[in-house]
Amino acid sequence: MRLIKTKNYEQMSRQAANIIAAQIISKPDCVLGLATGSTPIGMYQRLIEMYNEGDLDFSSVKTANLDEYKGLTRDNDQSYYYFMYNNLFKHVNINLENTNIPNGTEPDAQKECSRYDKVIADLGGVDLQLLGLGRNGHIGFNEPTDHFVKGTQCVDLQESTIDANKRFFEDISQVPRQAYTMGIGIIMSAKKILLIANGADKADALQKAILGPITPQVPASILQLHPDVTIIAEETALSKMPK
Ligand code: GLP
Repeated sequence: MRLIKTKNYEQMSRQAANIIAAQIISKPDCVLGLATGSTPIGMYQRLIEMYNEGDLDFSSVKTANLDEYKGLTRDNDQSYYYFMYNNLFKHVNINLENTNIPNGTEPDAQKECSRYDKVIADLGGVDLQLLGLGRNGHIGFNEPTDHFVKGTQCVDLQESTIDANKRFFEDISQVPRQAYTMGIGIIMSAKKILLIANGADKADALQKAILGPITPQVPASILQLHPDVTIIAEETALSKMPK
């Protein structure tokens, strides 16, 4: 595990964008596993700048997003499709047909999970998986539980996650209670993983993910077993690490 400490959010975003850019430059038709949330917004902005400066070409890039709220349509401004379209896809020359996100409007969970597993398999797996970190240690929407799940799953969101994500909705009653997410097995099968974390509210989860026991109660702790993980964290997110 490689740990990079940055002095602020902007530096975290720029360094993370450099790693994604290096992946695209070294393999123009790479498969990127993408993440949503407030943490990667600055990184996406930096990638858009690089694209506008003529330094990046997304025309052959393929993407697979980690997760999507169950029940939200693509045009709902809280859906992860909407997030990806507005924070990255519409600003660069990516072919939308090469982008993949779980379908939140599919009511049949088994059907959607099998479909998304096949999407990832057909892509040939993920070259570089970007991850944020939930305050409770979740990655994607893999919530703390008693076992690690392999494939795409439909999860019941924990109250703490619903509470953490309510800031994006008009009120808490509008936060979906379920989501589709790539399972831990899919995340772990990515060739490389890049996790970014910002803010003191991530410090506990990040310390446990890096140094704690490997347990499904802290889903991100499984990353200790992956051979190629880079963590870029701004200093307050690392405030619980030993000096
Ligand atoms: C959400 C997403 C995760 C994300 C996490 C942190 O619930 N499903 O993929 O990493 O929460 O979000 P934020 O970056 O806004 O703190």
